[in-house]
Amino acid sequence: MTRGPETQAVYLARMSAAWSESAHAWHRHWPVFEAGAGELSRRLVELARLQTGMRVLDLCTGLGEPALRVAQRVGPDGCVVAVDLVESMLHYARERAAAAGLDNLRCTAMEGEALALADGSFDAATFRWGPMLLNDPVQGLSEVRRVLKPGAWLATSVWGTGQEVPFIALPGLVAEEVLGLAKPPPGTPGPLRMGRAGELEAALLAAGWHGIGVERVIVRMAFDSPRAFVEFHMELASHLRAHFAQRPEDRQRFADALEQRVQPFYRDGRLVFENLAYAAAARR
Ligand SMILES: C[S@@+](CC[C@H](N)C(=O)[O-])C[C@H]1O[C@@H](n2cnc3c(N)ncnc32)[C@H](O)[C@@H]1O
Repeated sequence: MTRGPETQAVYLARMSAAWSESAHAWHRHWPVFEAGAGELSRRLVELARLQTGMRVLDLCTGLGEPALRVAQRVGPDGCVVAVDLVESMLHYARERAAAAGLDNLRCTAMEGEALALADGSFDAATFRWGPMLLNDPVQGLSEVRRVLKPGAWLATSVWGTGQEVPFIALPGLVAEEVLGLAKPPPGTPGPLRMGRAGELEAALLAAGWHGIGVERVIVRMAFDSPRAFVEFHMELASHLRAHFAQRPEDRQRFADALEQRVQPFYRDGRLVFENLAYAAAARR
């Protein structure tokens, strides 16, 4: 697992813009996403061996998952520091924490590959669907290790390969076929970048973690209709938004092709995708 093809500065500028612009859409589609993703959060909370009163780091928290579950688990005597690259995602994480009545969760903007946090200052860490988005996953996993106390646990996860994660891969394939969008160069940070069996374990080992256990988790993502799924992707995917801003005439062609492509997943009035994720526990 090596660093992505861009310099850190180019990567950070691209990621910050993409995630900042997506935050509102993530918030709008959150109930649908989290209905499927919540099960993985639940498992990560178990794998992190959390106890009441612990101080826990949640890296790449996005809209605050699994940070909110962790905050509930560690209780008012514990606390969570939820870190993300962009403020606009953290804005919604704070809003969700306030709505849940949690005041033991602090959100702070930070680069995952260079955490401005003290060595050995956390009792545990969670990192859901984050390693593959970092420019240098091993560097990020090393940083998490650095800020944990000796013997503390990390619970983390990545998606599987494109063939195993149809709800992410199919829109990408249709974009290549219908819009002629190029595949990003190998190693480019993205949701499917660390999906091969053994890849997460290898990155954890390279970052110095011990006691690594990896398990397969099926994440079921369900949408009301093919059209609802198409809207979900067209609003969330930054490369698609950028393309349609330049070529609005391509929108309908893409939407029709994707809707057609996902028909086999539409059964009994629901569009359902079964997707593979890996969940891992590792010890400092
Ligand atoms: C898929 S989203 C949300 C992940 C969240 N843990 C979840 O499972 O819902 C990924 C998040 O990672 C953040 N991110 C991407 N690259 C990052 C980096 N280098 N450092 C910190 N956060 C980053 C993005 O801003 C985004 O909010």
